[in-house]
Amino acid sequence: MRIGILTSGGDAPGLNAVIRGAVLTGIKVHALDFVGFRNGWRGVIEGDIIHLGRDEVKGISKQGGTILGTSRTNPFEADGGVERVNAVMSENGIDAIIAIGGEGTLAAAKRLTDEGVRIVGVPKTVDNDLDATDYSFGFDTAVQIATEAMDRLRTTGDAHDRCMVAEVMGRHVGWIALHSGMAAGAHVILIPERKTSVEQICKWVSEAHDRGRAPLVVVAEGFALDTMDDAHSERGLDAFGRPRLGGIGELLAPIIEQQTGIETRATTLGHIQRGGTPSAFDRVLATRLGMAAMRSVVEGHWGRMVALRGTEIVHVPFADALGKLKTVPDDRYEEARVLFG
Ligand code: F6P
Repeated sequence: MRIGILTSGGDAPGLNAVIRGAVLTGIKVHALDFVGFRNGWRGVIEGDIIHLGRDEVKGISKQGGTILGTSRTNPFEADGGVERVNAVMSENGIDAIIAIGGEGTLAAAKRLTDEGVRIVGVPKTVDNDLDATDYSFGFDTAVQIATEAMDRLRTTGDAHDRCMVAEVMGRHVGWIALHSGMAAGAHVILIPERKTSVEQICKWVSEAHDRGRAPLVVVAEGFALDTMDDAHSERGLDAFGRPRLGGIGELLAPIIEQQTGIETRATTLGHIQRGGTPSAFDRVLATRLGMAAMRSVVEGHWGRMVALRGTEIVHVPFADALGKLKTVPDDRYEEARVLFG
């Protein structure tokens, strides 16, 4: 049996550990053969394929990015479609695909599976916003990077007696902001799930400042003030037609400065949160997901993705996994809110 692996959508630290986990298990336990599609679904459509053997996956768990490359290509657009996917698979003797990607990738995988293509999915999102898995790889690394950055922002903020605003990723959900903000002892955490007023934000900032602290405000890119209809976007649309986010921190900083009289600076962490070495937690989770995806292939669980439930890896049908965002529950936000100000 020959398996094709692809990584698609925005990258996340741990992608290479998934590839290695799947390939090593497939070779060592099941004597299978592997190829990699380059640049996500684009490699499937274009038949852009590389050999994946033990040498190719040697030592890659600790590498960020993806050795296969990635893209946001939709396999049903341009020259794609199920016939093209089937043709490329049969020309190259590929029996099944392991697709590692987020909501868009898995939605395409579901559509192809519904039309008979044999696919197993592995969920990927640094935002940790897929409901079907308790944690996704890449999230822990992003939180660690953001926390370290905030520790640094706090020392320069203290030195200048400034309010520091740190913008982190989180398109629909505030998990990175909540966890990194709590870890760094932020005085305000702003998440997409909770619209908040300028007055409330400035009240928390002033309270912290009155106690002699340099206030730290953590804001997720998808946050909106209670006066805004949508998240702040000034950079056009991405390949899926979604608004490119980023800039809410820069928007808030002058407002906070003007309303509180406290000198304020903003820093956008951006793609630094997705780059570099994955944490040990992410390497282990990603390796286990890759190994479990391999088992799914051998058992013929097409149309399912692997997921973490508690400490166990489970198999979830695409239909149950898609379209459900894992938002920050109210009680988790209220718990953090006790320490604001
Ligand atoms: O979905 C993950 C994510 O990192 C979001 O938090 C962010 O809005 C988006 O990807 C950025 O995408 P790109 O890499 O295309 O700029």
